[in-house]
Amino acid sequence: MNEPLILGIETSCDETGVGIVRGSTLLADAVASSVAEHARFGGVVPEVASRAHVEAMIPTIQLACSDAGVSLRDIDAIAVTGGPGLVGALLIGTATAKALASSLDVPLYAVNHLAGHVVVDELEHGPLPETAIGMLVSGGHSSLLLVRDDAENVTSLGATIDDAAGEAFDKIARILGLPFPGGPWIDKSAQDGDREAIAFPRGLTASKDLIDHQYDFSFSGLKTAVARWIAQQHKAGNSISVSDVAASFQEAVVDVLTKKAVAACKEYGVEHLVIGGGVAANSRLRVLAQERCDAAGIVLRVPSPKLCTDNGAMVAALGSKLVRQGVAPTPLGFPTLSVMPVSTVVMH
Ligand code: KG4
Ligand code: ZN
Repeated sequence: MNEPLILGIETSCDETGVGIVRGSTLLADAVASSVAEHARFGGVVPEVASRAHVEAMIPTIQLACSDAGVSLRDIDAIAVTGGPGLVGALLIGTATAKALASSLDVPLYAVNHLAGHVVVDELEHGPLPETAIGMLVSGGHSSLLLVRDDAENVTSLGATIDDAAGEAFDKIARILGLPFPGGPWIDKSAQDGDREAIAFPRGLTASKDLIDHQYDFSFSGLKTAVARWIAQQHKAGNSISVSDVAASFQEAVVDVLTKKAVAACKEYGVEHLVIGGGVAANSRLRVLAQERCDAAGIVLRVPSPKLCTDNGAMVAALGSKLVRQGVAPTPLGFPTLSVMPVSTVVMH
């Protein structure tokens, strides 16, 4: 018998994503992004994102079906991001998913976007091990998670206490005059820079901070330090190298992320680290994580960059795992949750 065919819908921020998977095989990953409409505001404008989702939703579903060579009637279950995210944006996805599930008479799973960022790795690198440390680094979140193969079992070990990692990239890019979203631009600019040019602070790594915040992150002090350093250089009449600032800032972020992730693997005796979320597309993070995991005997798993940023395949992948594990679907009356704890993998 064929494995179940799952359609996943993602609309938590500015990407309208529709993915289709059969079992853990990716058949389609259609994404329409409204990012260009937000660029001049330097950040995502919720109302603009919601309107863009309305326009893109149906064409993106049609594109995913044609890419996968399936018809909506073939779908066995629908998964949708139930939270966390922008509530207006989420509503477009959840309303569409509810309408599809009831008209096709198939089960619906309202899932956690954050868990999707980790589970998506199964589409490329096979089933997750029994236990893994998950590091989720995106525009809205930075968390270290203990993830069990039982898809509903995710525990938070730590998270950012202020800015998310991607948010820090976006804010520093803005200070440097780079376009939005800034992460990819800093990544690119840093390739021509010296990551040791400027010693920026590593947040929450001093021994006194580790007592209460061993696996937490803080990037707002780093952001202030970069802004202050640039202002000082301007005041002194010095020209600055954007590439050196980008490379040194990026190093400060990825140094802390990888150090804490490897420390968590060691403390919990876990041999696998999975990194997900938009910042996992960062080339320096991928290299440094690989070096540190190799040195510590840890197996590193990171999805390809396209599956790191928001997409529908990650939602379909998580939905598919829940279906295969026999988890009960979400009753159709569920609310969308702009705030959703990472331990809630699926809404019941
Ligand atoms: O996961 P994602 O697509 O959306 C959220 O759920 O937030 O992450 C978007 C974030 C943005 O802050 C963006 O600047 C960052 O991921 N990002 C990167 C890179 N590509 C995307 N940050 C650093 N380096 C990259 N190559
Ligand atoms: Zn995301």
